[in-house]
This record gives sequence, C-alpha cells and structure tokens, in this order.
Amino acid sequence: PRIHVLALSGSLRAASANTRLLKIAAELAPAGMSVELYEGLGDLPHFNPDLDGDDPPAAVRRFRERLQAADGVLVCTPEYANGVPGMLKNAMDWVVSSGEFYEKPTCTISASPLAIGARTAHDSLLLTLGMMTAKRVDGGSLTIPLVNKKLSAEGGLTDDATEAELRRLLEALAAACGS
Ligand code: FNR
Repeated sequence: PRIHVLALSGSLRAASANTRLLKIAAELAPAGMSVELYEGLGDLPHFNPDLDGDDPPAAVRRFRERLQAADGVLVCTPEYANGVPGMLKNAMDWVVSSGEFYEKPTCTISASPLAIGARTAHDSLLLTLGMMTAKRVDGGSLTIPLVNKKLSAEGGLTDDATEAELRRLLEALAAACGS
C-alpha cells in the first residue's frame, strides 16, 4: 500500500471493543491504505523526563520510530472515569517533546457501551493532540455509543450506519495522508 496508518488502541483488554474496531478499520481501509495496530503501548514505562536523554528506553524508541514512519495515525479509545485511559495518555506524553505527531494526519474514534460514547475522553484526547500539533482531519472524528450492541460475539460490526461512518473516516484519513 501507498499509505501506512499506525493504529493506537486506548485499551489493553484482550476483548476490547476499541481494539476490535481498529481491526475492523484495517479490513475496511480503502485501496492503497494499510492500517496496522501498534501492539507495544502497554510496554512503555511510565513517562519520566529523566529517562528521556540520549538513550531512551527501547520501548520508547520503537514507538517513536513506528510513529515517524507512519503517514497517518488512527486512535480508538475508551473512557475511564471521564478521562483518557492512563496507558494511552502515557504513550502520548512520551512523544510530546520528540514531536512525532507534528503535522501528522490523525483521526480519533471513541467507543463505549454507554450512550455518550466516551465523548469526554475523546475531547480530552483532541486537546492533547492539538497541543502536539497533530493535523486534524476534516471528518476525522467518530464517537461510537452503545458499542456493545454494534459488535457481534465473533467481533464483527453489526451496525451498517457505524460501518458507513468508519469507511467515511478512513477515506478522509487517506485523503489527508495523500495531500
Ligand atoms: C469504565 N467505563 C466507562 N465508560 C464511559 O463511557 N465513561 C467512563 O467514564 C467509564 N469509566 C470506566 C472506568 C473503569 C475503571 C472501567 C473498567 C470502565 C466503561 C468502558 O467504556 C467499558 O469498559 C469499555 O468496554 C472499555 O473499552 P474496551 O476495553 O472494550 O475497548
């Protein structure tokens, strides 16, 4: 593929709806675009500027390299206690100063079994990405409420409207990466 997108999930849970949605996004990606899930977020140490000298931890180096090599980023996150899960915020904190998100086309999805669709965490994530000067994509944010009713036991998407929204978001990301 011409366009490589790195996908970041805000959940470490094996049965995560958010991770599942990123895998579905990989299947729905338009021709010419690949979506690859980054599996190493949970390996990052707690952010500590003291660790971030000339020789940062290997897990940090790997994460930065993969972000740098990606044409675009797709984040999909749940909400814990009205906030971005600490694991995802921690990953973001590691790349504030190193700048990998600078002008990087980035789309955001949040999903929750609740009717509000993790909107509070989503808005907070957008503030963080804005601070890191990630490139906002028109049509690049999607909130998915009641997610438990939209995934089958096998993990497939059972809601046509959500599938259409996901496809539109991926097209928008592809366009932003291509330009
Ligand atoms: C939650 N959940 C939740 N949901 C939400 O919409 N707003 C919230 O503030 C919270 N808070 C919260 C705290 C804790 C400690 C847990 C364990 C859960 C519910 C959450 O959305 C649900 O567990 C999702 O299924 C988590 O996403 P994954 O793991 O399925 O991707």
